[in-house]
Parts: sequence; structure tokens; C-alpha cells
Amino acid sequence: MISTESSTADRIRNKYIEHFGGDSNARDFRLFRSPGRINLIGEHTDYNNGFVLPASADKAVYFAISPRTDNQVLLYAVDLNETYTFSVEDISKPDQKWAYFQLGVIEQIYKNDLTIGGFQAAFGGDVPQGAGMSSSAALECCLLFALNEIFSLGLDRFSVVKLAQKAENEYVGVQCGIMDQFASAFGKNEAVIRLDCRSLEYEYFPFPMDEYLIVLCNTMVEHSLASSEYNTRRLECEKGVSILQKYYPEVKSLRDATPAQVEEHKTELGDVVYRRCKFMTEEIERVQVACDFLTAGDLISFGKKMYETHQGLQHEYEVSCEELDFLVAQTLDDDSVIGARMMGGGFGGCTINLVKKDEVDRFEEKMKKAYQEQFQIDMPCYRVRITDGTEEII
Ligand code: GLA
Repeated sequence: MISTESSTADRIRNKYIEHFGGDSNARDFRLFRSPGRINLIGEHTDYNNGFVLPASADKAVYFAISPRTDNQVLLYAVDLNETYTFSVEDISKPDQKWAYFQLGVIEQIYKNDLTIGGFQAAFGGDVPQGAGMSSSAALECCLLFALNEIFSLGLDRFSVVKLAQKAENEYVGVQCGIMDQFASAFGKNEAVIRLDCRSLEYEYFPFPMDEYLIVLCNTMVEHSLASSEYNTRRLECEKGVSILQKYYPEVKSLRDATPAQVEEHKTELGDVVYRRCKFMTEEIERVQVACDFLTAGDLISFGKKMYETHQGLQHEYEVSCEELDFLVAQTLDDDSVIGARMMGGGFGGCTINLVKKDEVDRFEEKMKKAYQEQFQIDMPCYRVRITDGTEEII
């Protein structure tokens, strides 16, 4: 484990002891970690049953947790310095929005006819909020994994992923796909995961970091459109499916359609739905091609696919924004960058860049300066190391 990870783990462990130290109702506590994610290519493809290529990042959420002898749940949000206490049977929505993720997880446990007792937990971490690195999925996976362990619920890792996604869909109300929770739970050191979101088959690909590094540039903006437009994109894709289905009954999702079929029915789809379907069918194919480049060790061609993805997300799927486009444009004439694009749901968050290792310092400096001049915002950059997924820290 690298030092920032262990120092964050230590911080949460110490805060638990400081906060709950002398409570005689609690048994010994345990510590769990679940990482945020990056995604190399395959954006918005998960809810269209396509392919994604994410990995777990070296920024994570930690839960120090212990079961209680009574039915109380005591949550301590370390980074906010706030608490919320409730009876484990009472999963009604609280004022504290941050507790929705935990309550959503508990709701899923009940919906699956499983039982838990009271518990107390201190949690927090170093996944930047609103950066498109899925801190919420990390939170859900971490708590569910921890409860599964301390109450011996018998869930396998796949079930943890699916229930964590449902917690987000049903309690939090964001209709996300499965990528974020999957990447957090199934991450593997130095490997990216190609996940087929239709069959849930997955394969690890070693990601070479000897010559290039993965660098995220955080726009520090999160436009309010993000969740409403996300749900609108889902509906637009569904509309495309319902039209294509009339001609090709086997099309149950855009995964089953081809760019040629979309082209064929361009007029009937109408401008907006046509562009969404065009991007989506091309993006699903692009992930496959990009993976072939990865297998062949051709990172340069892989990076070109990332640029194509950004073009599509910007002009056809329309989930980018001025700040993201600016950052990607800055890399176009920079020989040290072989691939760049917006990452995640869009409308803010980070760009992901493949940058020549020995040029990273210069790259970051240049990007920060340009962004400051353009938007008067200090832009953090993160050099990402790919780590293992959800785990207990012994
Ligand atoms: C968000 C969602 C994911 C996925 C991405 C876009 O992160 O939570 O399910 O759809 O956006 O690829």
C-alpha cells in the first residue's frame, strides 16, 4: 500500500478510536477500504449493455466499523465532522443527504431478506468529491462489503456490486449503470477491467505504466445539469431502441444495434436521438478495438481512440462542458500526451490523460497555468496508480 492510502486509513482508524473509543456496547472494530474508479474508455455504455474499461484508483473510502449489542446505528462522517444516529429498522430519509448512501445500502439488505443488527462506523477518505471518480459507489460498496463481513450475510462480490448499484438507483435516485460499483469492488492492481455490461463477463488487461502515466485533471466544476441530463440520455437511448426494434426485433438495447443500422434509420430517429445512437453504437465498438490495441501493446493507437471518444461525447452525446473541452484541446499539440478525454458522467469532473512519464511535471504545470488563466481556478492533477478493489485492511 502506498503512503497516502495508509495515512488516510490511519486517519479514519484514529478518528474511530477518538470518537467511539470508550463505548462498551461495541465489539472490536475492523477497517475496510473501497476505491474510487477511473475509466479508460467506454463512456455511458454501461446502461446500454455495452463494454467499459475501468480500473480502481489509489484514492478510496474507508470504514472503521463494529457491530453493536443494541439496534442503534451510529454514523460518523469524518470529513464532514457530522454524525447521524438511527435505529437499524428505521430507514426513512434523513436531512443529512450524505447518509442516503448508507441507508440505501441497508434498504437493499432488507429487500433481500437479510438481517443486520446495530453498528457504529467512522468513515471518510480521499476520493475527491464531484471529480467523477465515483466516491458514492466506493461508499456503497465499502459499507455493504463491511456489513457482509461483520454480520456474515453470505453475499458474494457480484451481489455486493448489484445491491450497491440498486442502493444508488432506488434510494439515492440516480439511474446509474453498473460500472462504478463493479470497478470499485473488482479492481485489480495494475490492471484495467473490460466488463461486458450485458453478460457481466469480465477480463483483466495489464495496463503498462513504464512509459506513460495516467493523469487526471480536475476541472473543479460540477454543473447542475449532471444528474437530470444523465437520466435524459438514458431515455434518449431507450427511444432509439424502440425505433430500431421495429426493424430489427433482436435489438433489446443499443448493444445489439450497429452504426450502419442507426445510419439507415437516421431520418426516423430524428437529429438528437440519431446522434446519441450513433455515438453509442460506435463507442461500444471502439472499446473492443481499443482493447485489441492494448493487447498488442500499441498505446499510441489506444490513445487515439480516447480522443475519438471525447469528440463523440462533446458533439454527439453532448455530455461535455466548456472546461473539459478546454483541457482536452490543450493536449492536442502536446507530443507528450497520447490520449485525453473527459471521464465519467460528464458536465464537469476530470479529464483522463495518458502522458509520457518523464514529461508529467511539465505537463501538469502547463495545464494548471492555462486553466488558471482561462477560468481563474486552481486545478488539481492526480497521477493515478491502479489498485486492488474493495478489501479489508488487516
Ligand atoms: C456515471 C455512472 C456510470 C456510468 C458513467 C458514464 O459514473 O454512475 O454508471 O454510466 O457515469 O460512463
